[in-house]
Amino acid sequence: MIQFEARPGILDLGWGHPRPELLPTAEWGVAAGEALRVFGWQALTYGYAAGPRPLTEWLAARLARIEGGDPDPDALFITAGASHALALLASVLAEPDDVVLVDSPTYHLAFQILADARVELREAGDDLAATIRDLRAQNRRIAFLYLVPTFANPTGRSLPPDRRRALVEREDLTIVEDDTYRELVYDEAVAPPSLWRMAGGRNVIRIGSFAKTVAPGLRLGWISATPALVGRLAGLGYVHSGGGVNHTTAVTMAAFGASGAYDRHLTRLRESYRDQRDALATALSVEPPPGGWFLWLPVPPGRTATGLLTAAEQHGVSFVPGPHFYLDRRGGEDRIRLSFSLLPPGELTEAARRLRLALN
Ligand SMILES: Cc1ncc(COP(=O)(O)O)c(C=O)c1O
Repeated sequence: MIQFEARPGILDLGWGHPRPELLPTAEWGVAAGEALRVFGWQALTYGYAAGPRPLTEWLAARLARIEGGDPDPDALFITAGASHALALLASVLAEPDDVVLVDSPTYHLAFQILADARVELREAGDDLAATIRDLRAQNRRIAFLYLVPTFANPTGRSLPPDRRRALVEREDLTIVEDDTYRELVYDEAVAPPSLWRMAGGRNVIRIGSFAKTVAPGLRLGWISATPALVGRLAGLGYVHSGGGVNHTTAVTMAAFGASGAYDRHLTRLRESYRDQRDALATALSVEPPPGGWFLWLPVPPGRTATGLLTAAEQHGVSFVPGPHFYLDRRGGEDRIRLSFSLLPPGELTEAARRLRLALN
């Protein structure tokens, strides 16, 4: 029925999944009823190619509210989640054998999405300019750079302002910014400006998702792009044939947003995930990240992330070892990713106790 599989006796910090009690089952039911009442049969037929206007208008206004700038619904294309957005962009922006540059570490499940487009993945490296120069000297075409600059998976960290400025000032590189965690920001922290907004959309395409802020099962996300690229995406064969993606879910999301349910839900999520983050970070005596779902914990000298996993599972706790987040697993044995999204604070405290036993 579902992707997550609970393993008896294991407190699993490996899954970046929401805590089941925080999924808005009742509120989503209300929004579905509201969408059918307001939009009638139009909620159930083939949808507008770029996504239904009630959703793109609400989302454009929301993005402008949280990050400044003018709302522009024509710069949005609704997708079946961030993963679908990335797959789509790879399919339209890259030719087979192009290079796509990736961060190290980065969101591990993006590797396969990109590889499915038959591109070659390369690490951007510490010196991006040199990487680009070397590739171009070999006549390699770089389709884009993929990165998660805000409350990143797996590190929880955000790219500092000078690195953001340097990226958006590059005229010669398309950047795909995965902005999945922007709204999951805790305490008084403020998410840094998106590369998309800083660049005025010039060389940056942003992908976003309702998977973390509402529910993964919606399969609903978006692409912020120029109206020209939105037009190109809207003209793809499967959209022409089948209409906008996940139309009924998209109009329900519009109702969920317009009614204020999204704002109320997000307030509750932020409090709950903050408490979960604090429970895990406090029990492990590490600095809590200002946003996102993850702690990126250093492994003590002399141990490896992979070796620690075996010991940890014997003590009844699990996580994702660092190498998963590096291209071809070249690196990361000195780190593990712990997700605090799935379990309530009490279980996170117990998970940390077990992890400490494995560490010792
Ligand atoms: C950085 C990042 N991008 C994309 C996704 C997947 O998003 P979606 O469920 O909308 O496809 C995740 C989920 O773990 C993620 O962490």
